[in-house]
Amino acid sequence: MDIKFIKREELQEKPDQKKLGFGKYFADYMFTMDYDEGIGWHDATIRPYGPIEMNPATVVLHYAQETFEGLKAYRRADGQIQLFRPEMNARRMINSNERLCMATIPEDMFIEAVNALVKAEEDWVPSEPETSLYIRPFAFACESSLGVHKSKAYKFVIILSPVGAYYAEGLAPVKIMVEDEYVRAVQGGTGFTKCGGNYAGSIIGQVKAEKYGCSQVLWLDGRERKYVEEVGAMNIMFKIDGEIYTAPIEGTVLPGVTRDSIIHILRDWGYKVNETHLSVDDLMQAGRDGRLEEVYGTGTAAVISPVGALVYKGEEITINNFQIGELTQKLYDYLTGIQWGKVEDKYGWTR
Ligand code: COI
Repeated sequence: MDIKFIKREELQEKPDQKKLGFGKYFADYMFTMDYDEGIGWHDATIRPYGPIEMNPATVVLHYAQETFEGLKAYRRADGQIQLFRPEMNARRMINSNERLCMATIPEDMFIEAVNALVKAEEDWVPSEPETSLYIRPFAFACESSLGVHKSKAYKFVIILSPVGAYYAEGLAPVKIMVEDEYVRAVQGGTGFTKCGGNYAGSIIGQVKAEKYGCSQVLWLDGRERKYVEEVGAMNIMFKIDGEIYTAPIEGTVLPGVTRDSIIHILRDWGYKVNETHLSVDDLMQAGRDGRLEEVYGTGTAAVISPVGALVYKGEEITINNFQIGELTQKLYDYLTGIQWGKVEDKYGWTR
């Protein structure tokens, strides 16, 4: 791929690495590429980070034909920079785009664009503990027309954001509310994709959870509101009687890269991982009986987020005395150890 470079006149001052937060600062450059039916992808460019001008009739603004991805670049102790399983993000974006009838970005193009932008902006990969450069690729329909139809034009953009912990609380356990009114996804819908619409529809759950003193919601299946699926914008895992339970990838749950990596590690460590439908009733009963040992969310942004309590129909159960579980901590240390190059990558996941 031929990537044009447009130089920025003045570079920004870099933010304080100890106060990054999540997604507040953006690197000097972004990658853009356009798609037109009959031509394909063209004009790959690394250009100064800045506004994208849009016609008010642009399809994405009305019908939400948009998908995105999230991955990170990590600074190792030896100063080198590495990515973690970027091909998983490339493939997931192809699946998301296909579901939304959008032009797909071939895997090699996606990887080349990410590599080129991160290389150009390597100074933006922070080195403080727990920090990384969050990479946000996204694509959207940019034809200008109000008829509901498959757009003939798309834009693919990558922006970069130096980040610290996703949650201000860091690895502190959070209280989660089981949501039994709204649902996140249904079979045949878009639950398995990373499309903006899924997140738009989920914000109400978060707002409601906060009203009830919780940090996030535990989503149940969209048909019976009986089986646990995801937590907030993350996958979720439960340790019950020494075994791990997580919802299967069958159309409604996002195939998380962190989820997949953790399952690999757990099986390697000899744990039985059940990718199965766990009912909220069985979950609460395990909590009452003291068999629910650990609960944690998994995702690229927060990596692992321990759950300290669950609230369902007015009943609250506490998990592991509201402390981070031993396995949860061990998984966090091991996976982030691989990501930051501190632990040998025996799976060959880093690039
Ligand atoms: C992640 O866990 O990486 C997410 O998907 C959250 C992101 C939307 C900020």
